Amino acid sequence: MSERKDYTNGPLCLSGRNLTRVFGTGAKQNVAVDHVNFDFHEGEFVSIVGESGSGKTTLSKMLLGLLNISEGEILYQGKPRDISSRKKLNEYWKGIQPIFQDPFSSYNIFHKIDAVLLDCIAMRGGRNLPYEKKVEMMTEACSFVNLKFAELTNKYPFELSGGQMQRLMIARIFLLKPKILLADEPTSMVDACSRATILDMLLNLRDETGMTIIFITHDIGLAYYISDTIYIMEHGKFVESGKADEVILNPQAAYTKRLISDVPKIHEEWDLSTVEMINNL
Ligand SMILES: Nc1ncnc2c1ncn2[C@@H]1O[C@H](COP(=O)(O)OP(=O)(O)O)[C@@H](O)[C@H]1O
Ligand SMILES: [Mg+2]
Repeated sequence: MSERKDYTNGPLCLSGRNLTRVFGTGAKQNVAVDHVNFDFHEGEFVSIVGESGSGKTTLSKMLLGLLNISEGEILYQGKPRDISSRKKLNEYWKGIQPIFQDPFSSYNIFHKIDAVLLDCIAMRGGRNLPYEKKVEMMTEACSFVNLKFAELTNKYPFELSGGQMQRLMIARIFLLKPKILLADEPTSMVDACSRATILDMLLNLRDETGMTIIFITHDIGLAYYISDTIYIMEHGKFVESGKADEVILNPQAAYTKRLISDVPKIHEEWDLSTVEMINNL
């Protein structure tokens, strides 16, 4: 990963200060996100890693402005985020866009794929562009994710495979060009092969557009493969964070060590002395 540009010192993009979300009251109170602090920078590829129930989706929804904050605050580009009116929320949503876990639930099944992509162009102010220009943009976005627009036109999202749908989600993001992409377990519905492809597409997206990518996953191996920075989440708290290499190669928290030990061979050197074929040469 050392050949990558360092995106961890750029301008501030999204920050959290003691960000907290409590569900329920009294004896049933559940602190799903517990006083977390973070600074994500422009172009940074951040992974938030934790097991099921650690608070990842709750945090994502607060970042997206879909869930109220119980305590603390979110800063957008270094200033307190203001989403106090519908207009301000819509403005914020131009800057941050999600890809969700389940692509099947993310599309209006009555909208053809053309309509899905044309919507994105309209949202970016391209509603009145000539149709040929729109086709050119849709073709470019599809080819970015190895889909052929000509083959998709007039189809419905449910006619695609899970992997194709997930790639269509990335094509949408390519057209929308938000400052921040928040991807909550975007590869959990696809096979291992499509998973690697999707991760590479997300990296290309970052490299081409300078987008900040927040990648939410329970898989510390994927996070290591793809991120500049890793935050480890346990019971609503960040128990460890830092550059991916530092967190994975020199973990401090017991929880991080356990997550790593569940992924065999992620960081161990190959011990060639035990390989019989080499010893016999
Ligand atoms: N709408 C909700 N109402 C009550 N509790 C919730 C709600 N959403 C999540 N939780 C609880 O918050 C905790 C964190 O859940 P979640 O953010 O979905 O974790 P993750 O995405 O890491 O699996 C869990 O204990 C979950 O039961
Ligand atoms: Mg979740």
